Amino acid sequence: MDNEKKPVVVSGARPTGRLHLGNYWGTMKNWLALQDKYDCYFFVADWHALTTGADKSETIAGNSRDMVLDWLAMGLDPVKAVFFRQSDVKPHAELALLLGMVTPISWLLRNPTFKDQLQELYKAKYKGQEDKMKKAEGVTKQLAEAHGHDADELALHSDMAVLGFLGYPVLQAADVLLYDAKFVPIGKDQLPHLEISRDIARRFNHTFGTSLLCEPEPLFTSATLVPGIDGRKMSKSYGNTIALGEDAKSLETKIKKMYTDPLKVKADDPGHPEGCVVCAFHKLYNQDWKAQEDACRTGKTGCGGCKKLLTELMEKEIGVFRARRAELEASGKVDEVLAAGAVRARAVADKKMAAASKAAGLI
Ligand code: TRP
Repeated sequence: MDNEKKPVVVSGARPTGRLHLGNYWGTMKNWLALQDKYDCYFFVADWHALTTGADKSETIAGNSRDMVLDWLAMGLDPVKAVFFRQSDVKPHAELALLLGMVTPISWLLRNPTFKDQLQELYKAKYKGQEDKMKKAEGVTKQLAEAHGHDADELALHSDMAVLGFLGYPVLQAADVLLYDAKFVPIGKDQLPHLEISRDIARRFNHTFGTSLLCEPEPLFTSATLVPGIDGRKMSKSYGNTIALGEDAKSLETKIKKMYTDPLKVKADDPGHPEGCVVCAFHKLYNQDWKAQEDACRTGKTGCGGCKKLLTELMEKEIGVFRARRAELEASGKVDEVLAAGAVRARAVADKKMAAASKAAGLI
């Protein structure tokens, strides 16, 4: 059994910097389980970050290191899995180029996340400068009409719709096809991207009369939705996050600010735990969360006490993480791990790339 090759799992994450608890409970905790069960390749999708963030490029390298530090501190293990930076393994770009030769643009234009994200980027770019947006729209509207598009597609004609962004799924296909990924762990929202990877693999094989590329399957992992301190989804763009390694003082401050049941005014008022952010976190960090909820409902505990207990419980876990992170940071291990990971990833990727070049008639 030990000698049997485990199925390959590939997953990447954009370098968003320090992880927050939404990232941890939603995605990263799954990676911990996956590294024991599969032959895992986990990478920092730094080229992907440039597809939508070329104007914020100065943050990419630092964010990549910060994110990998968090990965290691949370227990992801370079002995069990391969960790690397996408841009350190050039075949990702080279295979993406080849795959681009067999990927119809219509598939990419049809990709639902492309248009949605583009709209978001477009609005974000002109946030607070509506006059500029109007001006840009005036120009692009003429263009749009000249090309027979409706006004909804204005963003498509803006300078944000760069080739790299449209081609995002092609690069993502290369990411997984290079390693013969059997599974890609994804949330349901990522399914269209994976479908494109499968379609591209099939089209490559068909075009070049080969069976070189394996179609990856989705691995639906469970995700725990974590609210931000204001009760909305935890997200950097909402400014409502708690970092996986949040500093003790600011953890306390953030918990104090957490949204609670507005009907519970006095400590002994009966409370409603559903929708209360403090209660949501007790569920994650307090083994006796049920008793805590009962105490809230019956007015035996007030929000202040409830928050104080939560602060202690969370600090216990987060404190351990912080110490491990600081130790890792001082050791300089991240650079070592990424360098060694790139060597291991390249060994596999170079071979696949050579075979792909051969299949495509280049060699
Ligand atoms: N699309 C992923 C994200 O937005 C990152 C990513 C890039 C990825 N390539 C991948 C995920 C390959 C899984 C497999 O975070």
